[in-house]
Amino acid sequence: MSGSNDPTAVPVASPDPQHEETLGQTAPIDAGLADDGASDDTSNLDGDSAFGDDGSERDSKTSLSSGITKYREENGRRYHAYRDGKYLLPNDDAEQDRLDLHHHVFNLALDGKLVMAPIKNPQRVLDVGTGTGIWAIDFADQYPESHVIGCDLSPIQPGWIPPNLEFEVDDIEDTWRHNPFSYIHMRSLGGSIKDWPNLLSQAYNHLNPNGWLEIVEFEVLIRVQNEQDVGFPPMIKKWQEGLHDAGERIGRSFEVATQAKKWLQEIGFEDVTEEVVKVPDSPWPRDRRQKEIGVYQQQNMLDASSSYGQAHFTRVLGWSKDEYDIMSATVRKELKDKRYHVYSNLHVICGRRPEN
Ligand SMILES: C[S@@+](CC[C@H](N)C(=O)[O-])C[C@H]1O[C@@H](n2cnc3c(N)ncnc32)[C@H](O)[C@@H]1O
Repeated sequence: MSGSNDPTAVPVASPDPQHEETLGQTAPIDAGLADDGASDDTSNLDGDSAFGDDGSERDSKTSLSSGITKYREENGRRYHAYRDGKYLLPNDDAEQDRLDLHHHVFNLALDGKLVMAPIKNPQRVLDVGTGTGIWAIDFADQYPESHVIGCDLSPIQPGWIPPNLEFEVDDIEDTWRHNPFSYIHMRSLGGSIKDWPNLLSQAYNHLNPNGWLEIVEFEVLIRVQNEQDVGFPPMIKKWQEGLHDAGERIGRSFEVATQAKKWLQEIGFEDVTEEVVKVPDSPWPRDRRQKEIGVYQQQNMLDASSSYGQAHFTRVLGWSKDEYDIMSATVRKELKDKRYHVYSNLHVICGRRPEN
């Protein structure tokens, strides 16, 4: 992470994206990448200080720029280009809307708290897999003294952002070369990561003593409160089991929420806490606040029935798009079926890097 806004950043030795395997050395992408006609506004993506003005560096920059926006179009959805094929959820407008809506669900479910870890005066902050950057934007607004970096494979973040925030296109599975952070945030990365202990060790090694890591993750399998009375919706079961199976096959498991606490403890984090919050997946609860959460979460789930699975089922499990569409139409029907009191467990896991 060597953004021009970050005076402590490690300089980039070689900006060649083909040979870039080190997170934190990849340049924040320059505004020039918007020139290739891509619709996403990337003007906030600062040029790296190590990029000079000579032609060869500009060539590298241009190829990096076009490389990250040469998106894969597949079965009506659009997927990331940088490190193509790594991440199986789309990055198109519909998915960006879903991520922003989901952010609202997190806010409601966590009583408006952006952070559950007991941080004080956070300085350098990293949002790993920032998506549309909506959490990072809110955090940077709320903590104007901090310097926030949001990192993602896709340059889908807006251009109009707080001055203490920068976005970078990078692969968080590469070796990190950051200067230390006081707080690292990871949300909804289930199904994205091959080696969680390695990612979390890198986070540990890039935290200041007493710095905090926070993981916010839904369990992949939804639950039915009144299952004894109405049973489990069969197509939702098939969808979620298929998703789980595909994630395991490609080695990017969705089983994160229930494992994270153990991983943090094994790595050496201290004061590890876990909070589990029950989030209704439709507006079935009587309680007004829960009902409101259910309204938004139901829309998220309806949209997620396409993003969470289409590529998993077609690319990994060999289904046709039509087969997938038929299943997801039934999934949506079941999600709207008022008989099923569906909910999901949201886990928030925090851990502190010890003083020594
Ligand atoms: C489900 S989205 C969550 C986005 C955001 N954390 C949020 O909660 O709104 C997962 C994000 O992780 C990013 N991602 C997945 N694998 C990644 C990787 N290896 N390096 C960087 N970003 C990655 C995806 O591009 C996507 O934007």
